[in-house]
Amino acid sequence: MQRVPEPELMDDSDQAAAYGSADFSTGDDHTLRLILSLVERTASGVTPRRVIDLGCGPGNITLRLSDAFPGAEVIGVDGAAPMLHLARARAASMKHPPHFIESSLQQLLDSDWENTADLIVSNSLLHHLHQPDLLWSLTRRLATGGCRVLHRDLRRPSNPSEIDRLQHEHLSDAPAVLVQDFRASLAAAFEPDEVKSQLKRSGLAGLEVEAEDDRYLVVSGLVD
Ligand SMILES: C[S@@+](CC[C@H](N)C(=O)[O-])C[C@H]1O[C@@H](n2cnc3c(N)ncnc32)[C@H](O)[C@@H]1O
Repeated sequence: MQRVPEPELMDDSDQAAAYGSADFSTGDDHTLRLILSLVERTASGVTPRRVIDLGCGPGNITLRLSDAFPGAEVIGVDGAAPMLHLARARAASMKHPPHFIESSLQQLLDSDWENTADLIVSNSLLHHLHQPDLLWSLTRRLATGGCRVLHRDLRRPSNPSEIDRLQHEHLSDAPAVLVQDFRASLAAAFEPDEVKSQLKRSGLAGLEVEAEDDRYLVVSGLVD
């Protein structure tokens, strides 16, 4: 099935509010476990010092990372102001709150953050990008040698009827705005082989791309 891109930023307030109030905790906890497992089995489990969560949205993963790595500087980056408004409100009562920066990935490429991160993650970001290579060049640019990387996202089904099936199976009772987001996200997502080609073009062919259950893919590993 052909890819149908969707808007990059989720900067509509209603859309951000619906996303922020949805319960993604099962998937978010799973993403955190994948990140912790990657940290545990690489670099002898040395904890990261600077962690960047790209396309952090309302902070679902960023807040978990701050709790998991209280000694690290944890930074969530997103280009959508309404998402960051939610993220900052959620972080306000935390003992070790993350920093939230409003920036597009495109702007971050030109920042002075080169070679500063030793853990770079994203959850549900790649499918938003009109030029997916941006995520991989940015990952390369921000990473220190030995940086751990984990990007998890939906993967595109092979045909439209599979989108119907996934919606009925996983979002049968969700509000209409979330159902619409889910369907559009699946259609905008990449197939694992497309991601492997992107990584090869960006000099990141050493990262692994794995299909996960019926709708996700996970890119993980170390940047040299
Ligand atoms: C589906 S949400 C995922 C949010 C969060 N990572 C999570 O797991 O809940 C995708 C987020 O990526 C952000 N985003 C998409 N393209 C972006 C870009 N080019 N620069 C910065 N943020 C971007 C959107 O604004 C949105 O908040």
